[in-house]
Amino acid sequence: MKTLTVALGERSYPIFIGQGLLANPELVRPHVRAKQVCIVTNETIAPLYLAQTRALFSGFDITEVILPDGEQYKTLDVLNQIFDQLLAKRCDRRVTLVALGGGVIGDMTGFAAACYQRGVPFIQIPTTLLSQVDSSVGGKTGVNHALGKNMIGAFYQPQCVLIDIDTLKTLEDRQLSAGLAEVVKYGLINDLPFFEWLEDKAEALYQRDPSALIEAVAHCCQNKADVVAADEQESGVRALLNLGHTFGHAIETGLGYGECLHGEAVAIGMCLAAEMSAKHGWISAAEVQRVRRLLVRMHLPTTIPADISCEQMQNLMKVDKKVMDGQIRLVLMQKFGQSVLTSDYDSALLQDTLNTGYTEAA
Ligand code: NAD
Ligand code: GLY
Repeated sequence: MKTLTVALGERSYPIFIGQGLLANPELVRPHVRAKQVCIVTNETIAPLYLAQTRALFSGFDITEVILPDGEQYKTLDVLNQIFDQLLAKRCDRRVTLVALGGGVIGDMTGFAAACYQRGVPFIQIPTTLLSQVDSSVGGKTGVNHALGKNMIGAFYQPQCVLIDIDTLKTLEDRQLSAGLAEVVKYGLINDLPFFEWLEDKAEALYQRDPSALIEAVAHCCQNKADVVAADEQESGVRALLNLGHTFGHAIETGLGYGECLHGEAVAIGMCLAAEMSAKHGWISAAEVQRVRRLLVRMHLPTTIPADISCEQMQNLMKVDKKVMDGQIRLVLMQKFGQSVLTSDYDSALLQDTLNTGYTEAA
């Protein structure tokens, strides 16, 4: 097992990464403050992992909340179901919430923990690759609004993160690919050697080779832990973790939540960011192809879906947390393997990138 730390002073917490960890109660139990535990999961994950998770907390007073499954349920309305259960079971302010699931469950449970009685502890048990390499670490929590993705939320850190990569055995291929998109993101932000390692290991990762998965998850978590320790509330370097996301969130919102998976939208967004960087002369056309080729080997899409118009893309990109004084700021590649957050780009080239982003030849 690997143990990493997110260093945030008194709010520091461990990330445990390995196989068989859902059978090891000693890792999580020290992070529960009192008798009450509330496990939040969804109807897909409950039959797979709820019994094991319940066993982790045997002896505690356990409440369970089983939410509907899907990005379209990441709403304030559905969040209320968590509060309904907590109140019905008379959970007090020392209750520990446990997020058992992917990024949707993790983001919602974390936000519920941030709000319930003005803040109760929570533990992340991420079960998708995307949530293991990204969303369970760093304390971004929240829900979607019909007009914008992740627009309602809070920064709120967990007590610990338990990553059992054995849970990935039951994940659908499409979801595994979506997680791989976020893995590639770390390489493109500031870690060219990791991108090259991914070019070597793409098939092993897609085939779920455990040692390749553990290495990739640990590498991404370490990268994310470092970024969060340096800039918890995204006033600087953390914004780079949004590479591909301004384009991606527009695609997710425009198509309707759940149609294009978050990771798929990020894959398309990274291609658009690469293309736009090439149009500025910052990276080469061959490097754009390198990004596309790796994503295609990971079974990811690389072009904007035809169902969303260029005009919709432009309008939706304006609803982004990085927008400042009405100006869209984008994460682009200053050179290959080194991204920057910038508003210093040519808007005609943004328009051109969107226009041509519907075809491979873009
Ligand atoms: P998800 O939570 O919807 O999970 C994907 C699907 O896999 C769901 O149907 C889920 O029920 C199922 N599933 C989960 N674990 C499984 C398992 N082990 N076996 C079989 N099926 C399983 O999607 P996701 O990709 O994990 O997360 C996407 C969400 O994360 C988005 O809402 C995105 O905005 C958010 N996100 C947040 C952050 C952050 O920093 N907080 C970062 C990235 C993404
Ligand atoms: N996934 C982006 C972040 O956590 O900042």
